[in-house]
Amino acid sequence: MIQTEKIKLICPVCGKSLERNEKSCFCAKRHSFDIARQGYVNLLPVQNKHSLSPGDTRAMLLARRKFLDKGYYEPIVNDITYAIGQYCKIDAPVAADIGSGEGYYTAKISQKCQTCSVGIDIAKEAAKMACSRDKNILWAVATASHLPIADKSVDLLTAVFSLFVNDEYARVLKNGGVLIEVTAGSEHLIELKKIIYDQVFEQHKQPSPYGKQFKMLVQHNRKFTIHPVCEDLKVLLSMTPHIHRINREQSERIDHIDHMDLTVNYVIRVLQRI
Ligand SMILES: C[S@@+](CC[C@H](N)C(=O)[O-])C[C@H]1O[C@@H](n2cnc3c(N)ncnc32)[C@H](O)[C@@H]1O
Repeated sequence: MIQTEKIKLICPVCGKSLERNEKSCFCAKRHSFDIARQGYVNLLPVQNKHSLSPGDTRAMLLARRKFLDKGYYEPIVNDITYAIGQYCKIDAPVAADIGSGEGYYTAKISQKCQTCSVGIDIAKEAAKMACSRDKNILWAVATASHLPIADKSVDLLTAVFSLFVNDEYARVLKNGGVLIEVTAGSEHLIELKKIIYDQVFEQHKQPSPYGKQFKMLVQHNRKFTIHPVCEDLKVLLSMTPHIHRINREQSERIDHIDHMDLTVNYVIRVLQRI
């Protein structure tokens, strides 16, 4: 059993340490946060919420789960867990996955690397759904820009197709702790984009610049090809922002495809807190 007690949460209202029992998290100033029936805790106060339902929608999360469960992105999991083995040589490291979505990568990382993990996402629906992935993980609704995590308490941060918040990540990482980040590369899903859009502009995607609190250990640009059938392509489209940008005619172009050779291109970067 993984000890999530090792994860030091702080109150999102006053910053004091949070204690936990079966039903709630609470601080010395009596701010209290219920643990939902599914097992997640909502640590996103309204003042940190910039819309009624921030983050990914339920439809996007369901599509993400359906697509990821088919194993198309398993090489990304293997790449991340290999990097953890190389650069985070600690037994049962305290880990936080930021923008954890419905929990696919968080759960795989925790199970393969024996981390004590918290998965954090701004979407309540994401945390709710993630609970069914792994009960040994602490799932919390919170924002990456105000993490409910104590200073210098985390050995490993992961952010997979998610956000980079330099100062907040630097705050929670222990000295020597690592951040493993996966971001989309310039050719990510390029064949799909070429089918749905009339014009695709060349993009030179790079991970965000990082501050002097970090040094880069390694960065790789990775590519592999997947062969999704039409139905899976539609699911893939539904888990991306493209689904909101295209019209019906563009979306229907996918219906005429039997299957596609599709490039998955991402950048994996390992930064160390100095
Ligand atoms: C592209 S999805 C990636 C999810 C997951 N890492 C994966 O790859 O399956 C980005 C996730 O970040 C979450 N998100 C967006 N803004 C956020 C914020 N400010 N703080 C925490 N999570 C956020 C979204 O709700 C969404 O689940």
